Amino acid sequence: MSGTGQARKIVEGLTEASFSSGFGNEHSSEAEPGALPHGRNSPQRAPLGLYAEQLSGSAFTEPRAHNRRSWLYRIRPSAAHPPFVRVDNGHIRTAPFTETVPDPNRLRWNPLPEPAPGTDWLAGLWTLGGNGDVTQRTGMAVHLYHANTSMTDRVFSDADGELLIVPEHGGLLLVTEFGLLPARPGEVALVPRGVRFRVELLDATARGYVCENYGQPFELPELGPIGANGLANARDFLAPVAAYEDVEQPVEVVNKFCGNLWAATYDHSPLDVVAWHGTHVPYVYDLHRFNVIGTISYDHPDPSVFTVLTSPSDTPGLAGVDFVVFAPRWLVGEDTFRPPYFHRNVMSEYMGLIEGAYDAKAEGFVPGGGSLHNMMSAHGPDRGTFDRASAAELKPQRIDDGLAFMFETRWPVTATAQAANADHLQMGYDDVWQGLQRHFRS
Ligand SMILES: [Fe+2]
Repeated sequence: MSGTGQARKIVEGLTEASFSSGFGNEHSSEAEPGALPHGRNSPQRAPLGLYAEQLSGSAFTEPRAHNRRSWLYRIRPSAAHPPFVRVDNGHIRTAPFTETVPDPNRLRWNPLPEPAPGTDWLAGLWTLGGNGDVTQRTGMAVHLYHANTSMTDRVFSDADGELLIVPEHGGLLLVTEFGLLPARPGEVALVPRGVRFRVELLDATARGYVCENYGQPFELPELGPIGANGLANARDFLAPVAAYEDVEQPVEVVNKFCGNLWAATYDHSPLDVVAWHGTHVPYVYDLHRFNVIGTISYDHPDPSVFTVLTSPSDTPGLAGVDFVVFAPRWLVGEDTFRPPYFHRNVMSEYMGLIEGAYDAKAEGFVPGGGSLHNMMSAHGPDRGTFDRASAAELKPQRIDDGLAFMFETRWPVTATAQAANADHLQMGYDDVWQGLQRHFRS
């Protein structure tokens, strides 16, 4: 059986009991009865001869609402490793992004080309651009990936930030310190800073997007007047349950640290956590569960109502990065131009497409591709969309042919050299706004 076949079989065996529901709450799980200490975190001798280790994703003293930490009970402590040595960064780049000058032009890319045979998820990561400074824990990066091989005998962890993985083609099985998380197109996986994991493929190839968030961990947005329910509901986020590897063979641990990849070969699998509890845990979330809110009178609210997760900054309401989804929904606005409006925005918008089509772009914006509308660049529906929407009969309309998303960030996104010079960068993107007719009558 191939590695992909094994991964598929594992995923088919997962049930509702294979996950722990809820976002930001205290989860706990044990793969062996009695492995989880009760009444304390660090007993003199942890149960079953395990080592207790705390993984701190926030400063000890951050407010409870933002505090993230987990306790791991593992066969060997993570500290038992030889020195890390630099390895090639491949196509991964990190903030500050200085390879090109920030570009006010609207940019759009086709999907990544086919990877070379034997490219796993980590080797297939390709950085489009980003902002901030990783050593200051500010900003974000946009990556894409295209892989055709499962990671074997190596795991990855990112000290630089958390990873929001958005599969577009082909399913993934994340084998993490906390357990197993499948993530298929239409779902997103969130791997917290520093959590070790391996990516196995559920299909022959896998393609998608990654937001690497250097800043404050993602959280659910406040709901304000919306009330106690709505948007992404906390109970729809699924954490894994404990599942461990007891493997005594060399495993390479690749650690992304301040922009560079470093590797150390452990003499055992570090995915050896038998029990755990805490708040710093990975999640998977099905975007089809998103509760979409829109107008039932006129206009439509700003797309902030489509925010799934937000990374707050020190300024209330100003996100380091928001993850926003344009999910299937009804449009019923009266006397309303229904597609997304023409816009210039102080925030910068990277958009990708998971499936189908996006209602503001009739063509050219394809699944696996992406567009970048940087700070104050003018964007909006293309001519064909404008003409159709302006003339459409305003009966209730179901938008069900697409799943698009946006990484919206407070700072301009500077492209990497490989993105600015890519063969799959579209020429002539500006043309979609040409020919918008003058209709003014004085
Ligand atoms: Fe916009």
